[in-house]
Amino acid sequence: MDTKQLAGRYAADLGESGWVLGLGTGSTVAFALERLAERVREGLDVRGVPTSLDTESKCRRYGIPLTTLEEHPRLRMTIDGADEVDPQKRLIKGGGGALLREKVVASASEELVVIVGENKVVDRLGVGFLLPVEVVPFAVPYVLRRLEELGCAPFVRAHQDGKPLVSDNGNRIVDCRFDGIDEPEELERRLNAVPGIVENGLFCGLAGRVVVGKADGGIEVR
Ligand code: 5RP
Repeated sequence: MDTKQLAGRYAADLGESGWVLGLGTGSTVAFALERLAERVREGLDVRGVPTSLDTESKCRRYGIPLTTLEEHPRLRMTIDGADEVDPQKRLIKGGGGALLREKVVASASEELVVIVGENKVVDRLGVGFLLPVEVVPFAVPYVLRRLEELGCAPFVRAHQDGKPLVSDNGNRIVDCRFDGIDEPEELERRLNAVPGIVENGLFCGLAGRVVVGKADGGIEVR
Protein backbone atom coordinates (compact mmCIF):
# COMPACT_ATOMS: atom_id res chain seq x y z
CA MET A 1 0.00 0.00 0.00
CA ASP A 2 1.16 3.57 -0.72
CA THR A 3 2.65 5.30 2.35
CA LYS A 4 0.06 8.08 2.03
CA GLN A 5 -2.72 5.53 1.82
CA LEU A 6 -1.48 3.80 4.99
CA ALA A 7 -1.51 7.04 6.95
CA GLY A 8 -4.81 8.25 5.50
CA ARG A 9 -6.71 5.07 6.23
CA TYR A 10 -5.28 4.86 9.76
CA ALA A 11 -6.48 8.39 10.60
CA ALA A 12 -9.94 7.82 9.12
CA ASP A 13 -10.32 4.87 11.48
CA LEU A 14 -9.79 7.20 14.49
CA GLY A 15 -13.12 8.98 13.88
CA GLU A 16 -16.10 8.09 16.06
CA SER A 17 -19.84 8.49 15.58
CA GLY A 18 -21.12 11.87 16.66
CA TRP A 19 -17.86 13.65 15.82
CA VAL A 20 -17.56 16.70 13.60
CA LEU A 21 -14.32 16.48 11.64
CA GLY A 22 -12.17 19.00 9.86
CA LEU A 23 -11.18 17.59 6.49
CA GLY A 24 -7.89 18.79 5.00
CA THR A 25 -6.79 18.92 1.40
CA GLY A 26 -4.48 16.91 -0.84
CA SER A 27 -3.68 13.45 -2.09
CA THR A 28 -3.06 11.94 1.38
CA VAL A 29 -6.36 13.31 2.64
CA ALA A 30 -8.04 11.80 -0.43
CA PHE A 31 -7.10 8.35 0.91
CA ALA A 32 -8.55 9.27 4.32
CA LEU A 33 -11.77 10.43 2.64
CA GLU A 34 -12.06 7.13 0.75
CA ARG A 35 -11.80 5.20 4.02
CA LEU A 36 -14.16 7.59 5.82
CA ALA A 37 -16.69 7.09 3.04
CA GLU A 38 -16.49 3.31 3.51
CA ARG A 39 -17.14 3.76 7.22
CA VAL A 40 -20.05 6.14 6.57
CA ARG A 41 -21.61 3.52 4.32
CA GLU A 42 -21.16 1.04 7.20
CA GLY A 43 -23.08 3.40 9.55
CA LEU A 44 -20.50 5.82 10.98
CA ASP A 45 -22.32 9.05 11.83
CA VAL A 46 -19.87 11.92 11.24
CA ARG A 47 -19.95 15.29 9.57
CA GLY A 48 -17.05 17.10 7.96
CA VAL A 49 -15.98 20.70 7.47
CA PRO A 50 -13.97 20.76 4.22
CA THR A 51 -10.91 23.00 3.88
CA SER A 52 -11.16 23.46 0.12
CA LEU A 53 -13.55 23.32 -2.80
CA ASP A 54 -11.65 20.21 -3.94
CA THR A 55 -12.27 18.37 -0.66
CA GLU A 56 -15.88 19.57 -0.63
CA SER A 57 -16.51 18.08 -4.07
CA LYS A 58 -14.77 14.79 -3.12
CA CYS A 59 -16.96 14.53 0.00
CA ARG A 60 -20.11 15.11 -2.06
CA ARG A 61 -19.00 12.43 -4.53
CA TYR A 62 -18.17 9.96 -1.74
CA GLY A 63 -21.33 10.67 0.28
CA ILE A 64 -19.59 12.11 3.35
CA PRO A 65 -22.05 14.48 5.11
CA LEU A 66 -20.84 18.08 5.24
CA THR A 67 -21.37 20.92 7.66
CA THR A 68 -19.89 24.37 8.28
CA LEU A 69 -17.93 26.21 10.96
CA GLU A 70 -21.01 28.39 11.39
CA GLU A 71 -23.00 25.36 12.53
CA HIS A 72 -20.08 23.73 14.36
CA PRO A 73 -17.44 26.25 15.48
CA ARG A 74 -15.71 23.52 17.55
CA LEU A 75 -14.45 20.42 15.80
CA ARG A 76 -13.45 17.17 17.48
CA MET A 77 -10.59 16.29 15.13
CA THR A 78 -9.07 17.47 11.88
CA ILE A 79 -7.28 15.11 9.52
CA ASP A 80 -4.81 16.83 7.19
CA GLY A 81 -1.64 16.21 5.25
CA ALA A 82 1.57 18.23 5.27
CA ASP A 83 4.45 19.03 2.96
CA GLU A 84 7.08 18.78 5.71
CA VAL A 85 7.07 17.72 9.37
CA ASP A 86 10.04 18.37 11.67
CA PRO A 87 10.99 16.61 14.95
CA GLN A 88 8.99 19.20 17.00
CA LYS A 89 5.92 18.41 14.88
CA ARG A 90 6.08 21.81 13.21
CA LEU A 91 4.75 21.73 9.68
CA ILE A 92 4.96 23.38 6.31
CA LYS A 93 1.60 23.20 4.58
CA GLY A 94 0.01 24.80 1.57
CA GLY A 95 1.40 22.79 -1.33
CA GLY A 96 -2.21 22.53 -2.45
CA GLY A 97 -2.84 26.23 -1.80
CA ALA A 98 -5.45 25.59 0.91
CA LEU A 99 -3.36 26.78 3.88
CA LEU A 100 -5.72 29.52 5.11
CA ARG A 101 -8.79 27.35 5.60
CA GLU A 102 -6.57 24.48 6.76
CA LYS A 103 -5.10 26.60 9.55
CA VAL A 104 -8.52 27.92 10.59
CA VAL A 105 -10.03 24.44 10.74
CA ALA A 106 -6.99 22.96 12.53
CA SER A 107 -7.15 25.76 15.10
CA ALA A 108 -10.87 25.14 15.64
CA SER A 109 -10.20 21.46 16.41
CA GLU A 110 -9.44 19.63 19.61
CA GLU A 111 -6.77 17.72 17.71
CA LEU A 112 -5.04 18.06 14.36
CA VAL A 113 -4.04 14.59 13.19
CA VAL A 114 -1.35 14.95 10.54
CA ILE A 115 -1.02 12.23 7.92
CA VAL A 116 2.14 11.87 5.86
CA GLY A 117 4.29 9.40 4.00
CA GLU A 118 7.74 9.03 5.57
CA ASN A 119 9.33 11.13 2.80
CA LYS A 120 7.70 14.22 4.39
CA VAL A 121 9.59 13.84 7.66
CA VAL A 122 12.57 16.25 7.74
CA ASP A 123 15.19 17.42 10.25
CA ARG A 124 14.78 21.08 9.31
CA LEU A 125 11.84 22.86 7.65
CA GLY A 126 12.18 24.77 4.41
CA VAL A 127 15.25 23.04 2.97
CA GLY A 128 13.47 20.90 0.42
CA PHE A 129 10.12 22.67 0.17
CA LEU A 130 9.02 26.23 -0.49
CA LEU A 131 7.01 28.05 2.17
CA PRO A 132 3.65 29.22 0.79
CA VAL A 133 1.92 32.38 1.99
CA GLU A 134 -1.53 33.58 0.99
CA VAL A 135 -1.65 37.23 -0.05
CA VAL A 136 -4.41 39.70 -0.91
CA PRO A 137 -3.97 40.50 -4.67
CA PHE A 138 -3.71 44.28 -4.11
CA ALA A 139 -0.81 43.79 -1.69
CA VAL A 140 1.34 41.41 -3.78
CA PRO A 141 4.08 43.89 -4.92
CA TYR A 142 4.53 45.23 -1.40
CA VAL A 143 4.48 41.78 0.18
CA LEU A 144 7.11 40.47 -2.28
CA ARG A 145 9.44 43.27 -1.16
CA ARG A 146 8.85 42.54 2.53
CA LEU A 147 9.40 38.82 1.96
CA GLU A 148 12.76 39.50 0.32
CA GLU A 149 13.71 41.56 3.38
CA LEU A 150 12.96 38.47 5.47
CA GLY A 151 15.68 36.64 3.56
CA CYS A 152 13.82 34.53 1.02
CA ALA A 153 13.30 34.43 -2.74
CA PRO A 154 9.52 34.76 -3.26
CA PHE A 155 7.48 34.25 -6.42
CA VAL A 156 3.78 34.21 -7.21
CA ARG A 157 2.45 30.69 -7.87
CA ALA A 158 1.13 30.43 -11.42
CA HIS A 159 -0.56 27.99 -13.78
CA GLN A 160 1.33 26.62 -16.80
CA ASP A 161 -0.04 29.44 -18.97
CA GLY A 162 1.52 32.00 -16.60
CA LYS A 163 -1.77 33.19 -15.09
CA PRO A 164 -1.52 33.51 -11.30
CA LEU A 165 -3.24 30.82 -9.28
CA VAL A 166 -6.28 32.09 -7.41
CA SER A 167 -6.94 30.50 -4.02
CA ASP A 168 -10.41 29.38 -2.91
CA ASN A 169 -10.55 32.71 -1.05
CA GLY A 170 -9.76 34.82 -4.12
CA ASN A 171 -6.16 35.48 -3.07
CA ARG A 172 -2.68 34.79 -4.49
CA ILE A 173 -0.24 32.19 -3.23
CA VAL A 174 3.38 33.32 -2.98
CA ASP A 175 5.99 30.56 -2.61
CA CYS A 176 9.12 31.47 -0.65
CA ARG A 177 12.49 29.76 -1.02
CA PHE A 178 14.27 30.01 2.34
CA ASP A 179 16.86 27.21 1.98
CA GLY A 180 16.16 26.25 5.59
CA ILE A 181 14.13 27.90 8.35
CA ASP A 182 15.97 28.24 11.67
CA GLU A 183 13.21 29.60 13.89
CA PRO A 184 9.79 28.69 12.48
CA GLU A 185 7.78 30.26 15.35
CA GLU A 186 9.62 33.58 14.98
CA LEU A 187 9.20 33.54 11.19
CA GLU A 188 5.50 32.74 11.56
CA ARG A 189 5.10 35.76 13.85
CA ARG A 190 6.97 38.03 11.45
CA LEU A 191 4.96 36.87 8.44
CA ASN A 192 1.70 37.42 10.31
CA ALA A 193 2.79 41.01 10.98
CA VAL A 194 3.09 41.93 7.28
CA PRO A 195 -0.03 43.75 6.04
CA GLY A 196 -1.48 41.94 3.04
CA ILE A 197 -0.34 38.46 4.12
CA VAL A 198 -3.52 36.68 5.08
CA GLU A 199 -1.84 33.49 6.32
CA ASN A 200 1.36 31.50 6.02
CA GLY A 201 2.07 27.79 5.68
CA LEU A 202 3.99 27.38 8.94
CA PHE A 203 1.92 25.40 11.42
CA CYS A 204 3.70 25.58 14.80
CA GLY A 205 2.14 24.11 17.94
CA LEU A 206 -0.94 22.85 16.12
CA ALA A 207 -0.18 19.19 15.39
CA GLY A 208 -1.42 16.50 17.72
CA ARG A 209 -0.67 12.99 16.54
CA VAL A 210 1.47 12.69 13.43
CA VAL A 211 0.73 9.48 11.55
CA VAL A 212 3.62 8.42 9.31
CA GLY A 213 3.09 5.76 6.65
CA LYS A 214 6.27 3.74 6.12
CA ALA A 215 7.61 2.19 2.95
CA ASP A 216 7.81 -1.20 4.74
CA GLY A 217 4.02 -1.14 5.17
CA GLY A 218 4.10 -0.05 8.83
CA ILE A 219 2.68 3.00 10.60
CA GLU A 220 4.46 5.18 13.13
CA VAL A 221 2.38 7.47 15.34
CA ARG A 222 4.30 10.34 16.92
C1 5RP B 1 -2.67 21.59 0.90
C2 5RP B 1 -1.76 20.97 1.88
C3 5RP B 1 -1.53 19.50 1.78
O1 5RP B 1 -1.91 18.90 2.97
C4 5RP B 1 -0.08 19.25 1.52
O2 5RP B 1 0.29 19.95 0.35
C5 5RP B 1 0.20 17.76 1.32
O3 5RP B 1 -0.40 17.33 0.14
P1 5RP B 1 -0.33 15.83 -0.34
O4 5RP B 1 -1.05 15.00 0.67
O5 5RP B 1 -1.00 15.82 -1.68
O6 5RP B 1 1.13 15.44 -0.43
O7 5RP B 1 -1.21 21.59 2.76
O8 5RP B 1 -2.73 22.98 1.06
